[in-house]
Amino acid sequence: GTRLPEIPLPKDIMKDWRNSSGIDLTDRETLMATAEAVNAVPFTPEGTDSVHADPHHPSGRSMASLDAARTSDDDVHSAITSAQAAYPAWDSRPVEERAAIMERYADLIEENRIELMGLIVKEAFRSIPDALGEIREAADFCRYYAHRARCDMALKELPGPTGEYNAMKLEGRGTWATIAPWNFPLAIFVGQNAAALVTGNTVVAKPAPQTPAIARRVVEIGHQAGIPEDAFKLVIGGADVGAELTGDNRIGGVAFTGSTNTARRIASTLLIDEERPIIPFIAETGGINAMIVDSTALPEQVAADVLTSSFRSAGQRCSALRLLIIQEDVADSMIEMLSGAMDVLSMGDPGDPSTDVGPVIDRDAYDKLMSYRETMRPRWIKTIEPPEEGLFVPPTMIGLDSIDDLTREWFGPLLHVTTWKAGKFKETIEQINAKGFGLTMGLHSRMQRSADVMRHLGRVGNLYVNRSMIGAVVGSQPFGGEGLSGTGPKAGGPHYLARFCAERAVSIDT
Ligand code: SER
Repeated sequence: GTRLPEIPLPKDIMKDWRNSSGIDLTDRETLMATAEAVNAVPFTPEGTDSVHADPHHPSGRSMASLDAARTSDDDVHSAITSAQAAYPAWDSRPVEERAAIMERYADLIEENRIELMGLIVKEAFRSIPDALGEIREAADFCRYYAHRARCDMALKELPGPTGEYNAMKLEGRGTWATIAPWNFPLAIFVGQNAAALVTGNTVVAKPAPQTPAIARRVVEIGHQAGIPEDAFKLVIGGADVGAELTGDNRIGGVAFTGSTNTARRIASTLLIDEERPIIPFIAETGGINAMIVDSTALPEQVAADVLTSSFRSAGQRCSALRLLIIQEDVADSMIEMLSGAMDVLSMGDPGDPSTDVGPVIDRDAYDKLMSYRETMRPRWIKTIEPPEEGLFVPPTMIGLDSIDDLTREWFGPLLHVTTWKAGKFKETIEQINAKGFGLTMGLHSRMQRSADVMRHLGRVGNLYVNRSMIGAVVGSQPFGGEGLSGTGPKAGGPHYLARFCAERAVSIDT
């Protein structure tokens, strides 16, 4: 493959592990060389209708065209059987061995960077910088969880009454079902599975039906790194396959990232059967993520951060900004500046290095977003011209009368904008909280007191002050929310692994 200059490693965040290195895409020559290499990666779409994998195709990819690649119910069943059989041997290996395998996994993901980025760009329509971000995040998850497993899974001796020996330890729970989304087809997929595996569990992993090729390749790389094949099994398909997998009483836990509705559906099926053990369920879902801007904010910085937060990745991040709330006094000038900045966004092919906003994931997503956009009656609207054909939902600002007018998450490049009145800062935060989601919240202000107030009142997992609201960094910015946004624990945070484990204590009268 093409050799590209490495940028120096960022400063180690913790002394026992390091964040991934990368390629410097701000350097134009490196960007062009990377784009050329990434675009040359061969890709054969799975499913019946390969032409629909082209985002410029007038009808685009649909869920129906993906169903052909689906794993049969029998094969889901036998994947669970194999993963269960592999559990005792994998779980009884020393944590050090599993941690070393995860570090090797990180190295191999980085070594295969260009090929994986090619699949991400072609199968998930992500931009080249986003694809690189996924490589880094996937490798970071592997290394961070390896480091955490070494600390968390050691035997901990505990004090006790004289004459008794007390200790506790985290152990694997069995076979986990992991269900990953298409918006981070590599990073989230690898993160869930690395956490389950390093703690001694085996997994049956279901990627999103839109992104099977990325998953297939990265599972293969996992096996190459030393994860036994039966410990890391892959099944392909949509909701039916997910139901088959999570409905199996042999599953010891479910880690899910996707929509709030699907999370609710899975949670309810886990409790129906009285014979079934009560198992842990980790859900990471969406949000109606809001940012408050006050009159002390720096307009240019606000414009840059708002555009990044709401339109990068075509708004298809659970962390993305959905509702911008500007202090009334500065709203008109702020909106004018945002409109001007939107005019220079370029929409187009994900593999084109000059693209700011690419297509959305499939026809179903496109139809849902466009029909909302066309039927809603906003106070005002600002949009840009999309390419003529294909799954391009143009970045759009939608003026609302009030915060309460936005009642659901729209998973795309649609930014709702409204205002707040000076003196009503706390009430504005309460109005956001009242929506029941709790993933990300943003503030642009130069008043320390406002940040303090938001820190105390904002019921969200990730609060971002004077910066964009996306791109949480493993180990430094543990990611995940509360309420309708999920169960926690936070991915890339110090408490994540424990949820994949059984906690066992022993007390011995000596
Ligand atoms: N972790 C991603 C971000 O921070 C969202 O899934 O943007």
